Amino acid sequence: MRKALIMITITVAVLYSCTHDRVVPYKTSSGPIAKGDTVCFQSDVLPLFQTYCASTGCHDGKNNGEDRILNLTTYSNIMQGIVPFNTGPSRYYSVIQDGSMPPGNSPKLTPAQTATIAKWIDQGALNTSCATATCDTTKTTYSNGVSQIFSTYCNGCHGVAPGSGNVILSDYASAKSAGTSLKASFLAGINYTSALPAMNMPPSGPLSSCQVKQITKWINNGCPQ
Ligand code: HEC
Repeated sequence: MRKALIMITITVAVLYSCTHDRVVPYKTSSGPIAKGDTVCFQSDVLPLFQTYCASTGCHDGKNNGEDRILNLTTYSNIMQGIVPFNTGPSRYYSVIQDGSMPPGNSPKLTPAQTATIAKWIDQGALNTSCATATCDTTKTTYSNGVSQIFSTYCNGCHGVAPGSGNVILSDYASAKSAGTSLKASFLAGINYTSALPAMNMPPSGPLSSCQVKQITKWINNGCPQ
């Protein structure tokens, strides 16, 4: 009976989703595309999985005691739990949406970030990459520019106390404290010039040069709010 109910629910969900217009983004084989209303996998979605799901000791491709070792750092691996155009059976979306992942006290994705993943799935879950048109080197305060970068690229590890390396970037006071007291190593880290490779941030690969400029200005200006 329960199985039948689940089947009916899935069937209704599938039928329902088919009545909706599908927004198909531009294909990517010809290289970067203009941003428009398309969710870009490479700049909007992948960093969320890398930051919130693939942090050290979690779904990083090593055996961390999971039933199945997951490595949520690449498009092809992420697609093993995503069904294009259909958030319902997309397991790597539903566990985020229902709050079960990231687990426990780990930093959760924000509703806006969760909605971005849903929209990307609704658009066909393609491996899109876009010109980083949203980056603006003049946006160099915490509330306008910097906190948005932290939220996408850093807060999966630096969002909840004590934070990796005891660094919290998800609220202004803590971020300012890190930006002032760790100024030199913070700058080296985001520029990927740390003497210790493990200190280069974010660990999955450098930010765009525009994003590095925004954070650099913010730190050099004394971390304005
Ligand atoms: C996948 C997890 C992860 C992500 C994402 C991440 N960090 Fe880190 N971060 C760490 C860990 C782990 C350490 C501690 C490294 C150590 O002590 O060896 C650290 C340390 C730091 C430090 C302290 C450096 C010092 O000198 O003590 C800063 C600053 C920092 N991160 C900034 C950032 C910024 C900015 C971002 C986003 C652009 C970011 N991190 C993204 C895991 C992460």
